[in-house]
Amino acid sequence: MGITSKPVVFAVLAAVVILIGTTVTVFIPLFMPSTQPVSPYIKPYTAVEQEGRDIYMREGCNNCHTQTVRPLRTEVLRYGEYSKPEEFAYDRPFLWGSRRTGPDLNRVGGKYPDSWHYKHTAHPQSMFEKSNMPPYGWLAKNRLDTGYSFKKTSTLGYGYSESDVQQQIDQYRATVTDASYPSKESRDKVTPPELQKELTEMDALIAYLQKLGRDVKNMEATK
Ligand code: HEC
Repeated sequence: MGITSKPVVFAVLAAVVILIGTTVTVFIPLFMPSTQPVSPYIKPYTAVEQEGRDIYMREGCNNCHTQTVRPLRTEVLRYGEYSKPEEFAYDRPFLWGSRRTGPDLNRVGGKYPDSWHYKHTAHPQSMFEKSNMPPYGWLAKNRLDTGYSFKKTSTLGYGYSESDVQQQIDQYRATVTDASYPSKESRDKVTPPELQKELTEMDALIAYLQKLGRDVKNMEATK
């Protein structure tokens, strides 16, 4: 009589083998440092960038845009250095996406000046005539709600104090509302006068877009 004639023993043994397999391939790697690479170049999002990331998710930008450059020649030539695991250390949830209706955005930070993004976000067809990206001009009409910024960054474990967060918000507001801000003209064009001295949802979204891939570009530059 072989084991196949003892269904209960067989089921128990099969369960044990599957459990061992799961432990070895899933749970042990979960706690191994080599599966969680860290890089000193990868910095957490600032409070404003984090707000922008939340707006990106709220608007579902990830339904049309991926954030993963695959290690394929065509993609590396088009977007730049392929995505590394350590880049996503602060991405909760990750936004790798799967639909590529629009281009990948993992390396979009620094590709264009802020002015380009103000024009493009408000009216994509003004930059690419045949773009099927919807316009998001109304984001500039919404004042950025920073009421939960500190709570968000502390829940995500970025290690900022409440005054750090306030400072980041004040500093970014000072940057974009300054008379010498290089993208002032395009920002003023899409932002209603009463919000020109405030931070808007579009400001935060653009801050986030400019962060994408920036740390990796710095890392490559110092190699
Ligand atoms: C219906 C699909 C769709 C949605 C939703 C969408 N996009 Fe796009 N996006 C596109 C397409 C297509 C392009 C390429 C043409 C263009 O630049 O307008 C594009 C281009 C872009 C670019 C320029 C990328 C480059 O490298 O030139 C950025 C930045 C961008 N989108 C950001 C966003 C953000 C932020 C959101 C959410 C607020 C968003 N998109 C929502 C389809 C979409």
